[in-house]
Amino acid sequence: MTESNARTGAAVMEDPAEAPMVRVENLHRSYGTGEAAVHALRGVSFDIPRGELVALKGRSGSGKTTLLNLVGGLDSADQGRIVIDGVDLAGLGEEGLLELRRDRIGFIFQSFGLIPILSAAENVGVPLRLSRADPKEREERVALLLALVGLADHTSQRPGELSGGQQQRVAIARALANRPALLIADEPTGQLDAETGLAVMELLRAVVRSEGCTALVATHDAQLLGLADRVLELSDGEIIEH
Ligand SMILES: Nc1ncnc2c1ncn2[C@@H]1O[C@H](COP(=O)(O)OP(=O)(O)OP(=O)(O)O)[C@@H](O)[C@H]1O
Ligand SMILES: [Mg+2]
Repeated sequence: MTESNARTGAAVMEDPAEAPMVRVENLHRSYGTGEAAVHALRGVSFDIPRGELVALKGRSGSGKTTLLNLVGGLDSADQGRIVIDGVDLAGLGEEGLLELRRDRIGFIFQSFGLIPILSAAENVGVPLRLSRADPKEREERVALLLALVGLADHTSQRPGELSGGQQQRVAIARALANRPALLIADEPTGQLDAETGLAVMELLRAVVRSEGCTALVATHDAQLLGLADRVLELSDGEIIEH
């Protein structure tokens, strides 16, 4: 890296508003050791500007989930650097990572990850309880979010009483609860039929605009790829340029 690049890097760190939402540099992650080692990521670098919805595609086993887990601070890399919203993850301890995940990142998983015994509204309220939001504000935010995802009439139903598409919409509302800067979704339509999947993807597209957040979404779904601002493709642990 040149000196001027190094200087730019430092400036980026000092002024988060100017920095991309996500900066990933030369990321490596292997599982296992010796002959059995799997090199899931082999030097991955990219930036995601603020406000963009970036789709991550690639064959099964290409490293998508591994990459999302690293960017979301759920796992740590063997080598490389991740900066989220101007914050270098390497400088955060366990506590700092926990706060980052709770306050700045919303996760959406293929299997929804809702708590079965809680109603839709209670599920959406969980992150707000964890961040100790005022109960009245929590109730208002939950109602607003469930309306945003089109579930205002289903607030008291439990996940088992909702369709797959409705469950994923609850999960999107939950991911938005703490106004995250970054949404990370791992194949959010993987368990949905094509039509419901498209509706969920269009909803994601719309909330990224309306909430002003940034999103990184792993998907095989051709329709979401068409809705993304940019598509990154992973192949065997490396980003392929388009
Ligand atoms: N915990 C683990 N232990 C060992 N190997 C793993 C582990 N997690 C992932 N891998 C391996 O790392 C590689 C990348 O896996 P990853 O789950 O990131 O792929 P993916 O692109 O998300 O695939 P899919 O589309 O099937 O979800 C694969 O070869 C996988 O077998
Ligand atoms: Mg995966």
